[in-house]
Formats: sequence, structure tokens, C-alpha cells
Amino acid sequence: MLDKINHLVEEVKELAASSAEEAEQLRIKYLSKKGQVSQLFDEFKTIPNEQKREVGKYLNILKTQALDKINELKASFENDTHGEVGTDLTLPGSVAELGSRHPLSIVRNEIVEIFARLGFNVADGPEIEDDHHVFEALNFPPEHPARDMQDTFFIATNPDVLLRTHTSSVQVRVMEKQKPPVRAIFPGRVFRNEAISARAHCIFHQVEGLYIDENVSFADLKQTLLYFAKEMFGADTKIRLRPSYFPFTEPSAEMDISCTLCGGKGCNVCKYTGWVEILGCGMVDPAVLESSDIDSKAYTGFAFGMGIERITMLKYQIKDIRLFFENDKRFLDQFKSAQI
Ligand code: DAH
Repeated sequence: MLDKINHLVEEVKELAASSAEEAEQLRIKYLSKKGQVSQLFDEFKTIPNEQKREVGKYLNILKTQALDKINELKASFENDTHGEVGTDLTLPGSVAELGSRHPLSIVRNEIVEIFARLGFNVADGPEIEDDHHVFEALNFPPEHPARDMQDTFFIATNPDVLLRTHTSSVQVRVMEKQKPPVRAIFPGRVFRNEAISARAHCIFHQVEGLYIDENVSFADLKQTLLYFAKEMFGADTKIRLRPSYFPFTEPSAEMDISCTLCGGKGCNVCKYTGWVEILGCGMVDPAVLESSDIDSKAYTGFAFGMGIERITMLKYQIKDIRLFFENDKRFLDQFKSAQI
């Protein structure tokens, strides 16, 4: 056994490595559990007791030498520059890559800017709401389907604590605090208990608009929305208003714009109609004004609400709403040039 030890002592002295990986290989070869030195320690257990003193001494010397040698080899690679020139302190630093705004933020900011030019300011309200602000004060009859568990996320067991299903709730919040004239938009996140698909998500964003003053008319609504559509989608954009129903507006309408892709000629985005729907709107129902203590004989108003995802998908021809929530850098990087 002493021979074997001596042989290894000589071998270890000559060890050389040309990289940190090679040094690590040497450590495994000699010092790991199954390594050659460790094997000698196993063998040591089997030799007669009277030899143990001497052999043990040399075995320990071997172990220490192997450890020192291999550590020395490893250390020599730690600050290694692999043959390159050492650090040049005059080189320019590496530039941190700039991030980009999320497409939904870009479009939200653009909507806010467009309406700011018409004198609309911005307000917001809570995402966790109560029945009064989301439904009751907006003239939803108690049996209205939108109150159904299907659409609304309720929090805990209290049916009066829920996630807002639309930003129309902010209309009520604002009317409670501010007396007319009111001219504001409310961007925010909304929640609906819907199956997630390419076209729908359970979390999305809306912008609500509200204008209340003396003599506000449907013509004001139409002109405001026409201005918005042209600013957002280009000067050639046309709009049309179709009669519709919302509990909180009377009359109510849905607004279409001429298709952003084909310009009205017909394509698969507009399903060959030439038009795509972008928002709901109408004249604020007098009952809604009265429930917030605004005199509906003195004041009239209009309101509208649109989905930011929808506007963004049309503007940038994005086919799947789920892309907005995946944070795939390859998707987000495409909006670097569109910062606002
Ligand atoms: N709150 C409606 C929705 O989520 C959108 C809407 C329609 C808002 C008409 C309005 C409006 O202010 O007047 O579908």
C-alpha cells in the first residue's frame, strides 16, 4: 500500500490542467468519493493494525498534497481572461437595454391624450367594488343578466363585494363627488368570469367617458366620438352609430368604425361588412343622474365605454388577446418605436 501511496504522491506533483474544467476533472479523479485517494482510504481500513500508524501518516500527506495541488490549479483559472487582453478600463460600458411600454399602456395614453385635447380630465375608482356602484346606481334591474354569477367575480361570501365588470362604476363614483359640469374619462382594469380565448379574457381594460352639463346633446356625443375615431385610426376613418341597449343610457348606441384593415371594402377582420364595432355609448339615463343627486331637468349628459384591448388589436392588427398577458419579450419588443 505504501508503494501505491508513493506512486500517487509523485503523480499528484506533476498534475497540470489547461482550464478550470480540467482542474475539476482532476478533483473528481483523485478526491471525489470514488476517486483514487478516497479508494486508498477505504483500503486503509483493511490493513493490519500495526501498519496503520505509518500508512495513515503517508495517506494524510497524499491527501493534503492532492488537495493543495488541485486547489492551486483551480485558483489559477479564477481570474483567467482566456488569453484575451486584460480589462480595458477605457472601453465604453455595456449599455443597459431599454425596455418598452406595454401596447395597452401606449394605447391608453393615446386615448387619454386625445380626450385631453377636448378638455376631458382623468379619474379613477376602485377595482374591488360594491353592487351599488357597478349595478344598482347604473339602473340595472335586480334580475339583469349581467348581475349573474356567470359574469361577475364575487369576493369571499359577501355578495356585495365584487370585482367591477366595467369602468361605468367610476361614473357613479365621480358623480357622487363632483357636481356638473363633469367632463372626464376613466381608464381601468375590469374583470369578468369568462372563458379565456383568442377573443376574450377574464381580465381586460376599458376607458369610460362621461360628459354632463347643461344642454349636452346626442350631436355632441357623435362629434366627440368622430373626433376620437379620426385621431386614433386616421383622418379617413368613418363612424356609424347603431341603436342598442344599455341600462344606464337612453337612447343607447354602439359605434362602428370603417374597417381599419380594408378601409370599408370588406375583409375577414370586418367579416366582409366594412365596419367593426369599437364602443358602446348613449345619453345618460335621467334615473342614473337622479340616483347620484344630479337634477336631470337641469342637466343632460353622454357616456361611452370602450375596451382598450379591442382598440389595440384593431390598431396593431393583433389576432389574439392572450398575447397582452403573456409578457413574451418578442411580442413586447415590437412596440419599442411606438412609445407615448
Ligand atoms: N359598460 C359597457 C360595457 O362594459 C360599455 C358602455 C356602454 C359604457 C355604453 C357606457 C355606455 O358608458 O354609455 O359593455
